[in-house]
Amino acid sequence: MIGSRVQLKKAGREYKACCPFHNEKTASFWVSPEKQFYHCFGCGAHGTVLRFLMEHDRMAFPEAVEELAGRLGLEVPQEGGGTPGATHDSEKLHELMARVARFYAEALSRDVRAREYLTRRGLTSDTLAQFGIGYAPDSWNAVLKCFGTDEAQRRALADVGLIIERDAGRTSSGGMRDGDRYYDRFRDRIMFPIRDVRGRVIAFGGRVIDRGEPKYLNSPEMVLFHKGRELYALYETRRSRTNLERLLVVEGYMDAVRLHQAGIPYAVATLGTATTPEHFRRIFRLVREVVFAFDGDRAGRAAAWRALQHALPEAREGREIRFLFLPEGQDPDTLVGEEGREAFERRLESTLPLSEYLVRELSEQTELSHADGRARFAESARPLVAKVPQGVYRELLTARVAEVVGLAGERLQEIWAGTSSMPARGTTAPAAGAGSTAGSADASTSQARAEKGRARLSAGRGSLVRQAIARLVRFPSIAGSINGAERAGLNTCAEPGIDLLRELLDDLRERPLSVPAQVLERWADRSGGEHLGRLLEREEVLGDAQAAALELKAALGKLADQAVERRLEALEARIRAAGLTGLTAEERQEFQVLIGKRASRKISPDRPANR
Ligand code: UTP
Ligand code: MN
Repeated sequence: MIGSRVQLKKAGREYKACCPFHNEKTASFWVSPEKQFYHCFGCGAHGTVLRFLMEHDRMAFPEAVEELAGRLGLEVPQEGGGTPGATHDSEKLHELMARVARFYAEALSRDVRAREYLTRRGLTSDTLAQFGIGYAPDSWNAVLKCFGTDEAQRRALADVGLIIERDAGRTSSGGMRDGDRYYDRFRDRIMFPIRDVRGRVIAFGGRVIDRGEPKYLNSPEMVLFHKGRELYALYETRRSRTNLERLLVVEGYMDAVRLHQAGIPYAVATLGTATTPEHFRRIFRLVREVVFAFDGDRAGRAAAWRALQHALPEAREGREIRFLFLPEGQDPDTLVGEEGREAFERRLESTLPLSEYLVRELSEQTELSHADGRARFAESARPLVAKVPQGVYRELLTARVAEVVGLAGERLQEIWAGTSSMPARGTTAPAAGAGSTAGSADASTSQARAEKGRARLSAGRGSLVRQAIARLVRFPSIAGSINGAERAGLNTCAEPGIDLLRELLDDLRERPLSVPAQVLERWADRSGGEHLGRLLEREEVLGDAQAAALELKAALGKLADQAVERRLEALEARIRAAGLTGLTAEERQEFQVLIGKRASRKISPDRPANR
């Protein structure tokens, strides 16, 4: 499927190519027939054949399924005998949108007032043509009359939000002619067609001429249009064929259009929503640097802070996320109009990186000259840093925060790691803290240090949980080799990610799968699904299924041992503090059992044989 769309070259057991999702000269896009999975080392794009069709051919999920089924001569069952051939419907709707867009564009050429307004706003006729900008006539039924020739057409127009049905109570009373049941949504407005990446018109934004409410009226989110997915002007950006290095994300339609006209074709606009993860995915497919531009006023700063929060989970090494604050009272449209491309682009050379913006905002809220302020600063930075995925970038960000508060980066990490594991320890062993104050302080702090060390280790790349999950995703069939006792050993385990591991094991033991792509699809809508994809992309599992099964067993064994050991340590700490009588009867019983387990593990003859 991918080979018919991208020029693939065989490379060992896999295939490689220049990535179709971002600009590159050397091939870093790999397709693995064994995993039924593609991934790009350059931009991180990855997924199954379904994801490929959705991202590359811009199909909706059902369309992608139809496409695959069609190739194999399979019929896709429709739920409740619903509308077959949904693909064709959406094709028809796209066609209708294109025709209406042309209608609006023609109406603009005939309307002097609308044209004059746009000229006053500084738009050239080339720009109007490039963006397909038009005008919705000042009429309740211009579109309705022209396109709503029969009921099916009217339904289609209503489906894409171009006409609105009058309230249902009155229609059922009859008497009204069919055509009168509807009226045009957009009247006397400048029309900005919103196109998807393939250039198909999927919605409109309609601006009042001069004054009026609301300033912009947008198509409702219906079959074709989902705001959180689209970026206005992205199609035009991609079509500009410049070597894309960065995207500039602005807030308004007019801003994007005006920037393109000024010679900044890498400007796109969000559609009145905050930047979504979907936006980020789309952006970083294309470029490695994104700049968000915001007005310098309070609303702009609030929007910027929201953007930062949404950006944190997407931040990682190799990606640059930056912020540009414009002078108060300006937006990109007016600014580029005043100062021109060169001056505007110079601003883009000195934008704030995400980390600096974060530090700046937080330090404005606290007094850094004394210890209390610095401590508060660290506390407010902590949840934000925690949103960044583990990795080099997160380390760097932590180091930057540490620098501000005057600590070594490692020390801050240690403090954060230490306090974050408090609640968990508190729940398993409420009296453990008391132990340290009651005499045997030395033993329990060194023990606490050891525990922290383990927590750090296990949270890293190669944690046991991660290794186990990676093997299960790569060779899902090995779940079948895990027996009930091995599975039960995980029950008291509290490592990060253990829930996902347990879910995978249980699910795959019950409903076995054989290929990684199937696992990704089953988890596509579950939490952790995205994580599995990244794991498959990054974690190399060497060897075959048999080796992986042994490694999985070993990892589960170690996790179970660790869980036993932790619980024992907690109980022992309490015994040291308050003696055996400090435990309840159940806990004493549990202690005996666990001691037994620990002993049998140490002398267990079959352990070494596993290696
Ligand atoms: P702006 O008011 O900044 O729009 O709103 P703009 O593009 O600069 O418009 P001009 O310069 O006044 O013509 C930013 C964006 O917020 C959404 C639109 O997507 C707009 O482009 N918006 C704004 C709405 O959806 N509805 C509104 O009423 C206002
Ligand atoms: Mn504006």
